[in-house]
Amino acid sequence: MTASATESRSSSELFQRSEARTARNYKPLPVVVEHAEGAWMTDVEGKRFLDLLAGYSALNFGHSHPDLLRVAHEQLDRLTLTSRAFVHDQFADFCAELGDLCGKELVLPMNTGAEAVETAIKVMRKWGYEVKGVTPNQAKIIVATGNFHGRTSTIVGFSDDPDARDGFGPFAPGFEMVPYGDIAAVEAAIDENTVGVLMEPIQGEGGVVLPPDGFLRDLRELCTRTDVLMAMDEIQAGLGRTGKTFASDHEDVVPDLYVLGKALGAGIVPVSAVVADRDVLGVLQPGQHGSTFGGNPLACAVGLAVVRMLATGEHQARAAELGTILRERLEALVGHGVLAVRVRGLWAGIDIDPAVGTGREVCEALMARGVLAKDTHGSTIRLAPPLVISAEDLTWGLDQLAEVVRGA
Ligand SMILES: Cc1ncc(COP(=O)(O)O)c(C=O)c1O
Repeated sequence: MTASATESRSSSELFQRSEARTARNYKPLPVVVEHAEGAWMTDVEGKRFLDLLAGYSALNFGHSHPDLLRVAHEQLDRLTLTSRAFVHDQFADFCAELGDLCGKELVLPMNTGAEAVETAIKVMRKWGYEVKGVTPNQAKIIVATGNFHGRTSTIVGFSDDPDARDGFGPFAPGFEMVPYGDIAAVEAAIDENTVGVLMEPIQGEGGVVLPPDGFLRDLRELCTRTDVLMAMDEIQAGLGRTGKTFASDHEDVVPDLYVLGKALGAGIVPVSAVVADRDVLGVLQPGQHGSTFGGNPLACAVGLAVVRMLATGEHQARAAELGTILRERLEALVGHGVLAVRVRGLWAGIDIDPAVGTGREVCEALMARGVLAKDTHGSTIRLAPPLVISAEDLTWGLDQLAEVVRGA
């Protein structure tokens, strides 16, 4: 044991030491978690907290899901990495079954969400030059205001969030931003060099912002009509969260590219992917894109188990069912410490009345009551409980929120 590991294990000690030795790119709540199961996390002093964030949707199936842990343990003991220089025995099934879940022919596995987004950008550009015949190096991708697609220098270059963007330029050209949900603005932005539209079907980081009804369907029709690829970043919205496999399913829309991450690795290992048909992903040739860890055996074993869980539809149904409780309870708070709520499945954005406090203050008050949630953009709280949460626990967590915002 190292000297530091033998030092005090109190939450405050560990929290202070973490803060002292980390870049300040996060401002965590002062809770130090030691273990977790299902929807509950336990800190180093044994205090239990209900997790209403689920790792920003990475833990859709909860903490320590026994089936997923078993698969991971078995794979850890067998084989963890080959690199893509060789093929391993988990690869074919993962790609085939994920492709089937999406109704697509091909899968390109990566690790983090941002890498999958970067992959989608590269694929759309290459498709533009090789298939659509766009002028070399002039490809344009249309993105939305309020977007969040990750943290690479290219991606933050097409964000309109000053915190994400300021101080990190110069940025890559080739992106045009239009108001989220405005189909006329998308149409006006499309020109002969437009290769794709990259958007979230629901903006998670933006505060669970839903586009107007019909927008995704109209976008699908527009992209088809103008020969532009439709890429849906379902990294946070997808894989059961909204009560359907994909948020795009709510409008029966099938994009050209699904961009996936977070829950695909079940909170065990980073797994992301771009999933599309051969006429799109087929533009990549050996040597043109890759990742040492993308599609590794551990990732594929866990990802395959996730895909098989989603294939039953059970978790989507559960999200829809629990989502009705979430919606009812939150809508009752509007006008009582809450200005507005947006709910889709087991996912909610809650705009806190500034008279009650900031989003951060509400999250701190919730923490004191044993509930963990996270604010976004000052006054909004995002709830994304694990889909395995019980109705009783969800109700209890929402009771705590109600008491906090009502000032009880
Ligand atoms: C919609 C969306 N895209 C991309 C990302 C980036 O994923 P990662 O943090 O794994 O790079 C996120 C992360 O929150 C996200 O919500």
